[in-house]
Amino acid sequence: MNIIKAENYKDMSQLAAQKLINQVNEKPDSVLGLATGSTPEGLYKEIIQAYKEGNVSFKDVTTFNLDEYVGLTKDNNQSYHYYMHHLLFDHIDINSGQANLPNGDASDLQEECSQYDNAIQQAGGVDIQILGIGLNGHIGFNEPGTPFSIQTHIVDLDESTRQANARFFDSIDNVPFQAITMGIDSIMQSKGIILLVSGSQKAEALAKLVNGPVTEDFPASILQEHANVTIIADQDALSELSE
Ligand code: GLP
Repeated sequence: MNIIKAENYKDMSQLAAQKLINQVNEKPDSVLGLATGSTPEGLYKEIIQAYKEGNVSFKDVTTFNLDEYVGLTKDNNQSYHYYMHHLLFDHIDINSGQANLPNGDASDLQEECSQYDNAIQQAGGVDIQILGIGLNGHIGFNEPGTPFSIQTHIVDLDESTRQANARFFDSIDNVPFQAITMGIDSIMQSKGIILLVSGSQKAEALAKLVNGPVTEDFPASILQEHANVTIIADQDALSELSE
């Protein structure tokens, strides 16, 4: 794993944005895997700025997001659809038909899962997947205990994940109990992965990811077995890793 040390959150966001911009400029029809949560918000701001300055175009890019809550409509302001449109897609020249998220409001969720994996394959696979990490080691919404072999699927969210994400909702009662997420196997098929980690609250998770055993009890540990992972982490997040 390649670990890039960022000074702070802004530096992390800029370093990640530059990598994505280079990727798209080298391969204009790149397939990007995108993530939500607080961590990539700065990255998306940097990308919008680069687009506005004319340094990159997304008109031939295809994106696939990692996950979506089950039961929220696309226009619900807590849905990941809303997040992505609001924080990125509405501000760049991506073709909205090529900006994909799982539909957590589909009538047949199992069918939605298999269609999502097929769509990723038909697009040629993900060139670069952006990831954040949950405090319990989840990537996407793959909670501890999820088999590494699994593709896009429906998950029951851990109570700790619902608590962690409650800050985005009016009350914890409104946080969905389930989500649809790309599986570990889907994520591991990406040609390259960029994991973003910021803040001291993530330091323990990052140390476990890098130095701990590879175990389904800590889903992000599987990244040790991927051939092309870059971790961009700020100093606070790196505080529990030795030099
Ligand atoms: C969320 C998302 C993940 C994200 C993680 C960390 O639940 N499903 O994709 O990486 O939790 O979020 P944050 O960046 O807000 O800490």
